[in-house]
Order: sequence, then structure tokens, then C-alpha cells
Amino acid sequence: MSARNRVEVMHGVNLDQLGRRPAAVYGDLTYARLQQQVEGYARDLGLQVRFFQTNAESEFVEHLHRLEGLSDAIVMNPGAWTHYAWAIRDALEIADLPAVEVHLSDVGRREAWRQESVVRDLCVATVSGQGIEGYRAALERLKEELDG
Ligand code: DQA
Repeated sequence: MSARNRVEVMHGVNLDQLGRRPAAVYGDLTYARLQQQVEGYARDLGLQVRFFQTNAESEFVEHLHRLEGLSDAIVMNPGAWTHYAWAIRDALEIADLPAVEVHLSDVGRREAWRQESVVRDLCVATVSGQGIEGYRAALERLKEELDG
């Protein structure tokens, strides 16, 4: 059997705008640099990553629909959709792959409306408030899951 090592790294709304978002919360990280760093983390772990970002909820949902047979696991930062986009939750359930929810900022210490996550209970783990390092933690967790 071929190795299960393909991880889809999915970013939602406004995450392409990193670098223009409040520096006190997100620092000066850009989406391009995020991709480079995550690519490096994946290489170290022997994982193969593919990136997807969109500002359209329907595209995010349809991308999840298409993952069958193409990916073994998901790292997901849906941005603000995390907090209310039930259609994304349903699509993640359909995808039926091990997933880790990641947030750059510590959503638990921010506004009340960020406290809910519609995807959390479908994910094997949530990593929040560790900045870019959180993606390494997420990939390590998925590696365990895939090797398990
Ligand atoms: C975020 C946190 C969300 O609340 C916010 O809407 C984002 C980014 C994070 O990575 O910290 O867009 O998911």
C-alpha cells in the first residue's frame, strides 16, 4: 500500500490578506511566507502538502467535496467561517478525513463571537495561538494519525 502522506492545507476567508491584517494579532506574516514555512515543516516530516485558499465559501465547500482519493488528511484554518459556517462543517464531515483546526491567533482569548467553532468536534485536534508554529504542531499530529 502506498504511504498515506498527502495533507491538504486549506485556508479560508481573508487569510490571503495576511500581512495587511492587524499586526498586533497576526504579526507581519504573509500568506506566501506561511506557505513556504509550512512546506518546510512538511518536508521535515515526510509529508506532502498542497495548499488551497479562497474567499468564497462555496469554493471551500466544493474543494472539500473533491478531496476523496486525493488527500489523506486536512489542516484547516477557515478564518471567520470557523465561527458560523455550518455548511463547511457538513462538508468536512463528508470529506471524512482526519483534520486539525489551526488558528494563528489565540481565538479563546479574543472576542466572544470567536469562541464557537463549528468544525472543532470533527477535528482530531485544535491548535490556536501558536502563530506559524501551530502548523508544525498540526502536521505532527496528523503524521501520528496517518502512521498510527
Ligand atoms: C483566525 C481567527 C479567526 O477568528 C479570524 O476570523 C481569522 C483568522 C486565526 O488564524 O487566528 O480570519 O482563524
